[in-house]
Amino acid sequence: TSLIQNLYPTWFKLTCHSSCQPSNNPSYIWYKNGLKIQEDTSFIEQYFDEADSISCAVKGHEKFSSPSVCVLNQICNRVIYTERSVCVSKGSSVNISCTYNSYHEVTSKFWFSPVFTDSQNTGRVQVLETERGRSTLRITDLRETDSAQYQFTFTTRSFKWGSSLPGTTLTVTALQVQVIRVTLLQSSTEAELKCHSSCGSAGRLHYVWFKNGQKNKTQQTSTYTDHFYPGDNVYCAFRGHEDYPSPSVYPSIRPSVLVSPSEIVEGSSVTLTCRTDANPAAKYTWYKRNQSLPLSSGDIYHFTSISSEDRGIYYCKSEDHYSVDVFVDVQYPPNLPSVSVSPSEIVEGSSVTLTCSSDANPAANYTWYKENEESPKASRTDLHHH
Ligand SMILES: *[C@@H]1O[C@H](CO)[C@@H](O)[C@H](O)[C@H]1NC(C)=O
Ligand SMILES: *[C@@H]1O[C@H](CO)[C@@H](O)[C@H](O)[C@H]1NC(C)=O
Ligand SMILES: *[C@@H]1O[C@H](CO)[C@@H](O)[C@H](O)[C@H]1NC(C)=O
Ligand SMILES: *[C@@H]1O[C@H](CO)[C@@H](O)[C@H](O)[C@H]1NC(C)=O
Repeated sequence: TSLIQNLYPTWFKLTCHSSCQPSNNPSYIWYKNGLKIQEDTSFIEQYFDEADSISCAVKGHEKFSSPSVCVLNQICNRVIYTERSVCVSKGSSVNISCTYNSYHEVTSKFWFSPVFTDSQNTGRVQVLETERGRSTLRITDLRETDSAQYQFTFTTRSFKWGSSLPGTTLTVTALQVQVIRVTLLQSSTEAELKCHSSCGSAGRLHYVWFKNGQKNKTQQTSTYTDHFYPGDNVYCAFRGHEDYPSPSVYPSIRPSVLVSPSEIVEGSSVTLTCRTDANPAAKYTWYKRNQSLPLSSGDIYHFTSISSEDRGIYYCKSEDHYSVDVFVDVQYPPNLPSVSVSPSEIVEGSSVTLTCSSDANPAANYTWYKENEESPKASRTDLHHH
């Protein structure tokens, strides 16, 4: 906040005050009509125009600059943002608004931001002025790349509102349920969950939690502890933006393995995916049972052309937690069968066994024939005769 002292008409000394105790020797920044004019000192002394407004900030905390105050008049040039920062979930929409005042007639006014290009945002961005002196920038279908600072400016014939004073910082976040702690009980899991966002300290955020689709009416903070049974699911959202929640998860610390496709034939392309709901950004390692060295790291293990030798048990690890085993069964057709005779020397009246063998998965069915006879003799591996 600025304190105004009238020394001579239109010559003023202004002092910057901060209610929080900044570091021992804070440096200050002064803004006149939205433009940075001076740094370092906690006061400024100069002539002011009747339309001038002034604002100050502690250096390093420019986001928390004081509201612009009129130096001489009740009415001066100023822009006051409704919110310093807003955080909303991806896909939803936001209204960023400000009130502005001009000493002279406004000739043009607009919102701007480093991420704004008209061509890219057609249809998603709207500027509304429902009441005089209040402008609202409405952005729909929010993307994470919309995260930026949004500022408003206006011009008159002889004046332009400056752009050094911070506007509203918008953060667009993809919410995620993070498992902070899991305790396995006899039939349930007790989990402490956190609704993770990239909002940081942006504004005062209210959360809602849904367990099996039911809103928990008492839980409004970013963390939530409850009991979960297999089949339960949980997700979170910002209050008022319930239509744009986090993905739904079952709170388990173990990673799970997805095999795609589920039916695997030799020579086909197969992908194993390791994932944790608890921590999707975790580091993953792949293993094959009875192979001491890990196969690879990364959440995906891919076979471009799987062979019968790749058949086996696979599992993955994320942050010291192992997944359950998955059996990767590779199906392959029988190769050319071979026939063996036992015993090798045959005397009349003795027992003889012919064995037909061929490798296949699933195991092949065999059919026996005798030369010059049309109909099969038997349908099994061994042909046993007395
Ligand atoms: C933004 O403002 C419009 C118009 O006043 C309103 O219909 C809409 O609900 C607001 N959206 C949000 C996200 O506050
Ligand atoms: C709401 O959450 C609390 C934990 O914060 C839990 O004890 C309670 O059972 C939940 N209520 C419902 C209806 O799920
Ligand atoms: C792993 O090795 C053990 C003992 O050497 C063996 O009994 C088991 O069948 C092997 N498992 C696989 C999947 O190869
Ligand atoms: C082998 O025969 C059984 C029983 O008739 C049948 O269910 C199975 O599908 C057959 N297997 C193959 C590979 O043809």
